[in-house]
Amino acid sequence: MGKLAVISDLHADINHLNEELYFIRDYLESLNVTHLHFAGDVANKVDKTLEVVFFFDQIDTTFHWGNHEMADIDKQTNFEDFNDPHFLNFQSKKLSDSTVLLGVNGWYDYSFVPRAEEKEYRRKKNLYWYDRFIDRIGSDPQITEYICRRLKETLQTIPDTKKVILSTHFVPKEDFIIQHSEKYERWNQLNAFLGSKKFGAVLDEFTNVEQVVFGHTHHRFTKQMLQQTVYHCRPFGYYYEWYLTRSFILKNHLADTFNPLKARTLLKHYTNAFAEYKKRYILNELQEGMVLLDY
Ligand SMILES: [Fe+2]
Ligand SMILES: [Fe+2]
Repeated sequence: MGKLAVISDLHADINHLNEELYFIRDYLESLNVTHLHFAGDVANKVDKTLEVVFFFDQIDTTFHWGNHEMADIDKQTNFEDFNDPHFLNFQSKKLSDSTVLLGVNGWYDYSFVPRAEEKEYRRKKNLYWYDRFIDRIGSDPQITEYICRRLKETLQTIPDTKKVILSTHFVPKEDFIIQHSEKYERWNQLNAFLGSKKFGAVLDEFTNVEQVVFGHTHHRFTKQMLQQTVYHCRPFGYYYEWYLTRSFILKNHLADTFNPLKARTLLKHYTNAFAEYKKRYILNELQEGMVLLDY
């Protein structure tokens, strides 16, 4: 039997991961992980992402993009058909005689906002969302349409006797979309850029898709069974969102309450102490921020 680890949203650059990468690799090896897959947002730059993937490659390692790497892509074919042996997108990797891992970057089509007007949300995206730096041909609904079609075609090529573990970056089911209320209600607009209902509907058509792992939300959920599929969303996320950062700030009485939006500025005054604390507890954070699956 083998063990698959899926890590989404490692953000190795933003999280200043250096020595920690050695700790993580040693830890995964100690768990007897036989395949490691990165489900996007490894880093903001393609080169850095490849550097991290190669670093982990003494464990069999694959990856697909998240939106963060995509901002560094200039050739259109590199979005969905990047030429690297570790890149797993619309391709499956045999894990065992009975199980395959299928990677698909995914995309979004504003379907997680009721009655979203396409033009209005394109404008909002270009105004304040990170993905305004991504230079792709086609509107977001068009790109999603294409991706859903290709997802379906790829799943049709896999015999239904094979169990599929699917990894994607974006959210495939509305059950993982948080609806904010009152003074936070305007945050709901950002749900437009998190994923697509259509993507999830394609998955529903294939009963051999047993497990789905994704990230992007930077919010960790408990696993959920929807139709016949178990969905896992446990992204690693940004350092200022971590449990370890919360405990560092509260234990040292640096603030009365933990506010991730204020943590970055606060931590600037405690750089060395936080760096030490981070090294000490990074594996505890990883335990919460990755998905392990036996196959
Ligand atoms: Fe991310
Ligand atoms: Fe993301």
